[in-house]
Amino acid sequence: MARISVFGIGYVGVVSAACLAKDGHQVIAVDVDPGKIAAINSGKSPIVENGLDPLIAQVVAEGKLTATDDVQYAIDNSDASFIAVGTPSAPDGSVGLKYVTAVCENIGKALANKDSNHSVVIRSTIVPGSCENTCIPTLEKASGKKAGEGFGVGYYPEFLRESTAIEDYYDPGLIVFGALDDYTTEILTELNQDLGCKIHVVDLRTAEMVKYTSNTWRAVKVTFANEIGNIAKASGLDGQTVMEILCSDKKVNISSYFMRPGFAFGGSCLPKDVRALRHLAAELDTPAHILNAVLEANESQIKRAETMVLASGAKKVGFVGISFKPGTDDMRESPLAELAARLIAQGVQVEIFDPFVFEAYANANSTAGRGNDVIPDLADRMVESLDALIDESGAVLVGNFYGETVQKLEEAAKTRPVFDLTRLNRKMVSGGNYEGICW
Ligand SMILES: NC(=O)c1ccc[n+]([C@@H]2O[C@H](COP(=O)([O-])OP(=O)(O)OC[C@H]3O[C@@H](n4cnc5c(N)ncnc54)[C@H](O)[C@@H]3O)[C@@H](O)[C@H]2O)c1
Repeated sequence: MARISVFGIGYVGVVSAACLAKDGHQVIAVDVDPGKIAAINSGKSPIVENGLDPLIAQVVAEGKLTATDDVQYAIDNSDASFIAVGTPSAPDGSVGLKYVTAVCENIGKALANKDSNHSVVIRSTIVPGSCENTCIPTLEKASGKKAGEGFGVGYYPEFLRESTAIEDYYDPGLIVFGALDDYTTEILTELNQDLGCKIHVVDLRTAEMVKYTSNTWRAVKVTFANEIGNIAKASGLDGQTVMEILCSDKKVNISSYFMRPGFAFGGSCLPKDVRALRHLAAELDTPAHILNAVLEANESQIKRAETMVLASGAKKVGFVGISFKPGTDDMRESPLAELAARLIAQGVQVEIFDPFVFEAYANANSTAGRGNDVIPDLADRMVESLDALIDESGAVLVGNFYGETVQKLEEAAKTRPVFDLTRLNRKMVSGGNYEGICW
């Protein structure tokens, strides 16, 4: 069992302090608000949260949870400190770090007087880079010690939802943390190992980004559901019924399908259907902010790839894939075709390796090149051999993933620019000749 101090007894801090104490850890809650300290020490919850009153009464009576404003006492009598102070928006919308900075300074000063191991684990929601650029320098300056050596550091975001916070604590949907050192990793792993949820151990910045991605995704879901609900109601339908049925598809709709960063969507269905629903919404005089944004964002992903290629100055670009997805020769609204056409229009020579579109031409199918109305002389640009494409191209653009091409394209990246819109290999990240669109 660990000894843990929790800084900030707000909605997050008090729940984790109480649950840690319930699990048998010795917990000291630290706050600047005397009312909250007094509430806890008298066995009462300082906030209203389902199940928290009896839990606090129990752990305080057992002597497992105490509260104080004495930072040095809390540091001296714990092995790790969790920081759960607020991070309200600054007036310009940026994350407000003043409380986090103040706590780091206080903890750092106390660490200067402590010789044994201690970890500082930030749980507040902070944007990627905050730990490295703000928390660690503040702790180092105040303590006179080096992070990762003189004291441990971790970032361990909290995902609980108010009103079901205790339930969420014991049945989390997601556990992720980053740590600078083994001591912190061990503490965080031990605290979570019995919760029956996979523990993702990543770097500090990835953990920070996951937290924002999670909250933003929740916000997008709410807003999307509302927008569909509004359009449904305007069409004389029950929006909740529509969304319930949509969500019953756990295979494609509520799953990781379509949740992998990469290139724009296209094909014969998604673009036209988003446009049509947006048009219907306009006819019904119902705002469709998300649908507008989806089409705008999709266009900007094509622009992003275009800018990436043009910035390299490549004059001959070999496309790997041109149909709207691998495994088909269908080119209707393929964003790769749109990208190729834009590059061609700007004087870039484009040749294309796409086994499926090539086969359609080789078989003289009447539908060969179906859907292409943007690339001039498509048939003449098709190349049968990937080796030939690589040899003839100053740069290669990987648009579709074909398993058999991976090794050759990894090799190609050693000698010429490779722009990857799909990801040849999970281990590849932008650097040198290789540039991934979102990695
Ligand atoms: N509320 C949620 O549901 C939730 C869920 C997950 C993550 N978060 C994140 O967790 C963080 C905390 O959120 P919250 O809702 O618990 O905030 P809160 O405002 O309820 O609590 C913050 C507490 O920190 C205390 N505090 C401020 N300065 C301090 C200092 N120098 N030393 C000690 N204590 C100090 C305050 O007095 C207050 O009690 C935020 O970054 C938030 O974004 C919140």
